[in-house]
Amino acid sequence: MNDSTLIAAEQSNLDVHRRFAVAPMMELSDRHFRYLARLLSRHSLLYTEMLTSKAIIHGDREYLLGTNDVDHPVVLQIGGSDPAEMAEAAFIGQSWGYDEVNINVGCPSDRVQSGRFGACLMAEPQTVADCVRAMQNAVSIPVSVKCRLGIDRDDSYEALEQFVRQVADAGCSVFIVHARKAWLDGLSPKENRTIPPLRYPYVYRLKEALPELHITINGGIETWDDVQTHLRYVDGVMSGRKAYYTPGFLGRADQTVFSDLPDPLHDISDAAALAVVARQYAQYVQSWVDKGIRATALTRHIIALYHDMPGARLWRRHLSENATRCSDVPQLVEDALQHVIKLPGAQSA
Ligand SMILES: Cc1cc2nc3c(=O)[nH]c(=O)nc-3n(C[C@H](O)[C@H](O)[C@H](O)COP(=O)(O)O)c2cc1C
Repeated sequence: MNDSTLIAAEQSNLDVHRRFAVAPMMELSDRHFRYLARLLSRHSLLYTEMLTSKAIIHGDREYLLGTNDVDHPVVLQIGGSDPAEMAEAAFIGQSWGYDEVNINVGCPSDRVQSGRFGACLMAEPQTVADCVRAMQNAVSIPVSVKCRLGIDRDDSYEALEQFVRQVADAGCSVFIVHARKAWLDGLSPKENRTIPPLRYPYVYRLKEALPELHITINGGIETWDDVQTHLRYVDGVMSGRKAYYTPGFLGRADQTVFSDLPDPLHDISDAAALAVVARQYAQYVQSWVDKGIRATALTRHIIALYHDMPGARLWRRHLSENATRCSDVPQLVEDALQHVIKLPGAQSA
C-alpha cells in the first residue's frame, strides 16, 4: 500500500467513529476524562484538549501526550500556525499513537490570538493550508481542521466555503465546524460559545456544496434527537459541554449512533449502569492515587455523573467534601453511590 492508500484506509475506518465525537475542551478533556468517556462509549471519537505545537515539541511529553490504551480512537488537537512546527508536532503525535491530528482554527482567546492561531486563522486560509500540507507530509494519519463559521464581520457563507475549499485543496478532507462565528474583539471565550447565534444551515450547505468532504457539525447539541437530525445532513456530530456535564447522555451514544457495529449494544445511561462505570473509574483513579496523584484531579470528572437524576446533589456533595483527603477511592465512590442507587438488599423507605 502506498501512503495515500494508507491514509484513505485510516480515514474510512475513522469515519465510522466520526459519526459522534466528544469535543476538545481545555482543562476538561484530559486523559482521565477520556478514560471515563471510553467507559461510557466504546465507539465515539475522542479528542484531547488543545496543545500548542511548541508545548508538544518542547514540553513534558509523557504529561502532555500520555494516553490510556482504551482511548482509541483519539485525536490530538494542535494549536499553532508555523507549518514546520505543526509538522513536527504532528509527527510526535503520531509516534505517541494518536489516530489523527487536528488543527485548532476555532479558539478565540487573546492568548491564542497573540500566538496567531485558533480562530484568527479563519482569516488566513493559506496559512492553514500550508500547515495541512506540511503535517500531511510528515504523518500517515489523517489531518483534520476544526473551525468556526467565520470571525467578526467576515461571516458570510461564501467566505466559509472559500476557506474550506482552499484548505481542502491542500489535502484536508475532514472538517469539524462549530456552527457559530467568533467575535475576536469584545467577547470572552466563554461568551463566544453562547452569544454568536448558531447557524446550522451554513454547515448543511457546506456538505451539500462539497459532498466529498467529511463534515462534522458542532455547537449546542442537546439531545439524541438533535444528533439524529443533524446526521441527515452531515457526516458527524460533535458534542462538548453536553457530553462532559451530562455523562449519562454520552452513555447512550453506542446504542443510538453505533448500533450497527459488531460489539454488543451498549447503553449506560441509567443509574445502575452508571454505577458500574463509577466503580470501574474508581479503580482507575486509585491506580493514580497510588502513584501520588491527588484524587480530586480525577474525581472531578465524575461529579456530574448523575446529573439531573435522583440523589445527584448528595452524590456531588459526598465526592466534593471527601475526595480531598481520600486514599481509598473505591470506598469513597461506594459511599457516594448510596445516594443514587438502590443497593441490593437495601430497605425501601
Ligand atoms: C471548557 C471548554 C474548553 C474548550 N477548549 C477547546 C479546545 O481546546 N479546542 C477547541 O477546538 N475547542 C474548545 N472548546 C470548544 C468546544 O470544542 C466546542 O466547539 C464548543 O464548546 C461548542 O460545542 P458544545 O456546544 O457542544 O459545547 C472548548 C469548550 C469548552 C466549554
